[in-house]
Amino acid sequence: MSKHLAWYDEIRESGRVLWHEETQSWYITRFADVWDFLVDSRLGARTTDTFTDRMTPEQAELCAPILDFVSKWPVFSDTPRHTGLHRTILPCFTSAETDRIGEAVRSHLAKDGSIPWQSGDLLAGAIRPACEAGLVAFLGVDSDELVRVSEWSARLIAFVGRTEYHHETMTRASVALREFSDFVVHICGEGRSALSSTMQRAVEEGALDWADVVAVYGQMVTGFLQPTVSALTMAAEILANHPDGLKAYVSAPDTFISESIRLASPFHFAPRRTLEDIEFAGEVIPEGARIVLLLVSANRDPRRFPEPMQFRMDRGTPPHVAFARGRYACVGAGLARHIMQGVLDAMVEEPRTFAVEALTADWNIGPGMRMPKCLVKARS
Ligand code: HEM
Repeated sequence: MSKHLAWYDEIRESGRVLWHEETQSWYITRFADVWDFLVDSRLGARTTDTFTDRMTPEQAELCAPILDFVSKWPVFSDTPRHTGLHRTILPCFTSAETDRIGEAVRSHLAKDGSIPWQSGDLLAGAIRPACEAGLVAFLGVDSDELVRVSEWSARLIAFVGRTEYHHETMTRASVALREFSDFVVHICGEGRSALSSTMQRAVEEGALDWADVVAVYGQMVTGFLQPTVSALTMAAEILANHPDGLKAYVSAPDTFISESIRLASPFHFAPRRTLEDIEFAGEVIPEGARIVLLLVSANRDPRRFPEPMQFRMDRGTPPHVAFARGRYACVGAGLARHIMQGVLDAMVEEPRTFAVEALTADWNIGPGMRMPKCLVKARS
């Protein structure tokens, strides 16, 4: 088990709240408390962590547009700005649009007879490409454009992940942001998906400006692909390995998917800041403090989920917090489940999938998220 997950479990069992000097953050660890804090109006969005106070004026000038870009992501915006953004992007997630994207995923899987169901890496061969087909449809780009978008996104995320100024990373991110921004304006003008036409209309009506739109696209790119691939890999692994996996999925796909997402909990926490002093579990968390709502630790809390590490269909679909809840709850949750169902249906319909040995996923588990590296035949 990764040291991060082990530590999150350990601090949950040692108390409801922990002050952590190294990250200068308060960690909320248990399900019941995370559940309540997710809808607590005394918490606001976490401003992006910066090291601006330690930068020279030249460095600050280079980083300013990227910091501005990240601070405009929905999840880093406070009300009333967040409410406006949320209202504008919700129409991109209608059931018609969800069906259209699900269809793109299904037809991608149907058209390619070379998907390595039995050998090779199911993640690289089927799961990731299927999710990418969904993202292509959602963003309104083509596959070549998605490669460029993914490169820009990786450079911008590399910036967000740094805690110190690093000239090469900052310069690459700065160029990526310029190119990504031009690209977003271009595709919105062509109205190639519900997202692009909704964004174009929002700019024309004055509800958003182009910097807002670029930020929304930025969050959509990272928010769509990685957690969906992660949750789907967990579900596929369970489908192939669990003694009753196939029967369980066919009899209750919603329960199967919900329990897989709980076990995966791809985003480990929801970062927030306190808007006032908060007295909690014998501590006073001061106004302006960083507070980390540990979604993954809550979803593995035995007080809420007995035998939390076991995949158990008899749980039904009790609410969990993998998609968070409240103001910042995932707007793509229904879409993610729909995509997962499309891929799992394709696995179930492919008889050869279950004629092989068990599958095993290798995970890259960081402090903030889990990502699969491969999903291959288990070694005997
Ligand atoms: C299994 C897959 C997914 C998981 C586990 C997941 C998880 C989450 C979580 C935990 C949050 C809240 C973060 C916070 O409170 O700080 C969130 C927000 C968000 N997610 Fe997802 N997500 C998934 C798929 C998607 C997809 C497919 C999209 C589509 C583009 C998406 C778009 C978003 C957006 C735009 C937000 C911000 C919502 C807001 O602030 O109003 N997510 N997601």
